Amino acid sequence: MSISIPRGTQDILPGEVEKWQLIEAKARELCEKYQYQEIRTPIFESTELFSRGVGDSTDIVQKEMYTFEDRGKRSITLRPEGTAAVVRSFVEKKMFGYASQPVKLYYMGPMFRYERPQAGRFRQFVQFGVEALGSNDPAIDAEVISLAMNLYKEMGLRKLKLIINSLGDKESRIAHRDALVKHFQPRIGEFCHDCQNRLEKNPLRILDCKQDRDHELMKSAPSILEFLNDFSKAYFEKLQQYLTQLDIPFEVDANLVRGLDYYNHTAFEIMSNAEGFGAITTLCGGGRYNGLAEEIGGPETPGIGFALSIERFIAALNAEGIELETDQGIDCYLAALGEEAKDYTVGLLQQLRMAGISAERDYLDRKFKAQFKAADRLKAKYVAVLGEDELKNKKINLKNMATGDQVEIELDSFVRYFQGLKGE
Ligand code: HAM
Repeated sequence: MSISIPRGTQDILPGEVEKWQLIEAKARELCEKYQYQEIRTPIFESTELFSRGVGDSTDIVQKEMYTFEDRGKRSITLRPEGTAAVVRSFVEKKMFGYASQPVKLYYMGPMFRYERPQAGRFRQFVQFGVEALGSNDPAIDAEVISLAMNLYKEMGLRKLKLIINSLGDKESRIAHRDALVKHFQPRIGEFCHDCQNRLEKNPLRILDCKQDRDHELMKSAPSILEFLNDFSKAYFEKLQQYLTQLDIPFEVDANLVRGLDYYNHTAFEIMSNAEGFGAITTLCGGGRYNGLAEEIGGPETPGIGFALSIERFIAALNAEGIELETDQGIDCYLAALGEEAKDYTVGLLQQLRMAGISAERDYLDRKFKAQFKAADRLKAKYVAVLGEDELKNKKINLKNMATGDQVEIELDSFVRYFQGLKGE
């Protein structure tokens, strides 16, 4: 019996992987411009990091983590997200002491959630995310949002919607929490088992329930925006002012609560509103998490960031019919005729490649015509032909595949000649 790939995972094959590489390269390029530096943290962490960081009452921690005991009897979890790990590293490596503040980091790598697989929802997916730690200035919230929006826009996406909300500071959230308890308590029996537990632990999570989302009490639930104190209100207004200044359109949605517990003040999501995009339209999510560093044993540190998955990014590109320019073709295919010429191309191929030219030759002892066909398949810009006669005369015949023009070149100066062509 053959063995197949685990549910909710995918192989990314040549032909598709080039899209990933383009997105990843663009993300790195933008991070360079915005001055975010890469951080790589382990793929697994202590389970406690996520139960404390992401929050015990979240779906992620309750239902979706890949948790196991290792041989040393430690509880280990494959990371379901990147923020808690970045903050763990920030605390552990004492980055709060760096001369340059805020500390602006980005990451790219696989995350793991045991979710029900469907279009846009995988059990292993790749997130690109950024985290800015150490600043309480709403201008950095706007910067983080603009980085995500620009990445999508620069890859060609147009049908985007930015939704923002404020979850306020601690004081505002306590007032809101009390109002939520008052609102739901009398009829909590009509809600699912999870929501009944959430009422005491974290009533805000009720608003994020997938099962009870159509219950009438959901629509009439008190909105956090009514409970923002003056500081939180001013913070949120400043963010909106900066987004307007940056020409980034947004909508305020008081029901946006996000699925992780660490948020306060700014919360945002970027959705695709392309027609034909599946049921899951959130491309990117993020927000502010002042207090998370303390939660995992560090000093009080404000933080803000976002994460987006490359899987949903590509789905959005497909939904908008955007073809990325991926197959550039190779520079030169070496077609050889006869044993000696074939032998010669082994070294010549190496010289071309070392000179920065992408080049290929035949490895299947194909006839001359079939070699040209192979060159076509590789979208070779030039085919260099080396037959017995050419070799004897120390020449090589170079054909420009776009124009059909052919020239004969001294074999000794061929690599230099080709470099000249590329430089044109
Ligand atoms: P999140 O909303 O859980 O936030 O995930 C962020 C993004 O990851 C989603 O918008 C989506 O693009 C992608 N994503 C999540 N789950 C899946 C899945 N099963 N399959 C495919 N893509 C998925 C976080 O993870 C936070 N750490 C974001 C953050 C960073 N907040 C502050 N800093």
